[in-house]
Amino acid sequence: MIKIGIAGKGGTGKTTLSALIILVLLRHNKKPILAVDADPNSNLNEVLGIPAPESLVDIVDRVSKEKDRLPPGMEKSKYLEFQIREAIQEEEEFDLLLMGKTEGPGCYCYANHLLRDFMEKLEKNYSFVVMDNEAGMEHLSRRTSRNLDFLFITSLCDKISIKSAERIYSMVEKLELEIKEIYLVLNEFGGRKISENYNPFLPPFFVLPYDEKIAKLTEEGKGIFSLSSDSKAYKIVEEHILPLIE
Ligand SMILES: Nc1ncnc2c1ncn2[C@@H]1O[C@H](COP(=O)(O)OP(=O)(O)O)[C@@H](O)[C@H]1O
Ligand SMILES: [Mg+2]
Repeated sequence: MIKIGIAGKGGTGKTTLSALIILVLLRHNKKPILAVDADPNSNLNEVLGIPAPESLVDIVDRVSKEKDRLPPGMEKSKYLEFQIREAIQEEEEFDLLLMGKTEGPGCYCYANHLLRDFMEKLEKNYSFVVMDNEAGMEHLSRRTSRNLDFLFITSLCDKISIKSAERIYSMVEKLELEIKEIYLVLNEFGGRKISENYNPFLPPFFVLPYDEKIAKLTEEGKGIFSLSSDSKAYKIVEEHILPLIE
């Protein structure tokens, strides 16, 4: 199993990159894939053009309310696990697990705790796990996701955005997670380009060009699957991801 995480500040292209990576994997027959939407403000399902499954947080809420109605002889944790497995959105080509949003930190903690246990079991069923993280890296800092093969940190091409990416990088370093390789991906979305004499904290792994085809799909509310393989952004992701996983 190869596990890929994507992190970065909001609006830097995390979800776009996650979706592009999933698309590249599928088009090269690299499956089965589990997509994990671990950003409470995310919309990975929309970018993938599929309905949102019930989120893990909502399942935990629901099951705690239903606790008097557990099937006889079934432990709560087993029942939850069953419900979570049911909730994973099974598309023909990949599965999607949605972490979800919560108001109360307590509940989210519990969900994280659950996810930690389930993820390990769950991941064994897949060849690839692609995880769209939130800016605060909640799941990584709570060790929901202990190890990653590759972590991509996305940033726009300006110094402020790169500073944020650097903060995420130092945070990840301090967490002492098992991550084989961390890469910086610069996104030219927003029209800026990196100036030649500027050296970010990591040499960029690649620069994601602004892609009109992606902009058009977003405008029309269409999923990424109709993106043609000659899209600029698709090609650059393909070129850099395949050698890592082959
Ligand atoms: N390289 C790009 N080309 C065209 N549109 C892009 C590009 N990168 C991001 N976008 C658009 O910018 C918006 C924010 O990107 P998104 O991936 O959702 O960021 P994040 O997940 O980091 O918040 C989306 O509408 C997305 O379609
Ligand atoms: Mg996002």
